[in-house]
Amino acid sequence: MHEITQPDLALLAFAREVQSKAYAPYSSFRVGAAVYAGGEIFQGVNVENAAYGATLCAERGAITAAVAAGYTEIDAIAVVGDSEAPTAPCGSCRQVMAEFNPTMRVIMGGRGDEVRVVSLEELLPEAFVRGYLDQEDTK
Ligand code: THU
Repeated sequence: MHEITQPDLALLAFAREVQSKAYAPYSSFRVGAAVYAGGEIFQGVNVENAAYGATLCAERGAITAAVAAGYTEIDAIAVVGDSEAPTAPCGSCRQVMAEFNPTMRVIMGGRGDEVRVVSLEELLPEAFVRGYLDQEDTK
């Protein structure tokens, strides 16, 4: 757990702002996310589907927006869900986050006032990253 800074709270506010736009008619669990990359903010929401497995998570939506804008180095991500306690990113989102910075700052909020700030390393230790694929002995 890290000290919570003003920029953390500002990013969390962007995640909260977009959360109401989530498309979650099946679970009713709305998630908003905001990414800080290249000095800009990118937002995302979860987008569910009648074919449940086609659902997109908020975090990956926000990361996709950052990458589409040309940023592949992400400093921080904030996520807010409908849980009382701060919502933690799912395992698939953690893996996608690691691609763009295995030590990015992760700010989590929920319906309550509690906020948690951690490094992605704490959520996904020993991540599988592209370095493994670059090793000579795998070729
Ligand atoms: N969800 C996210 O958007 N991010 C997560 O990290 C966890 C889960 C969404 C997917 C689905 O629409 C709803 O939350 C319930 O699983």
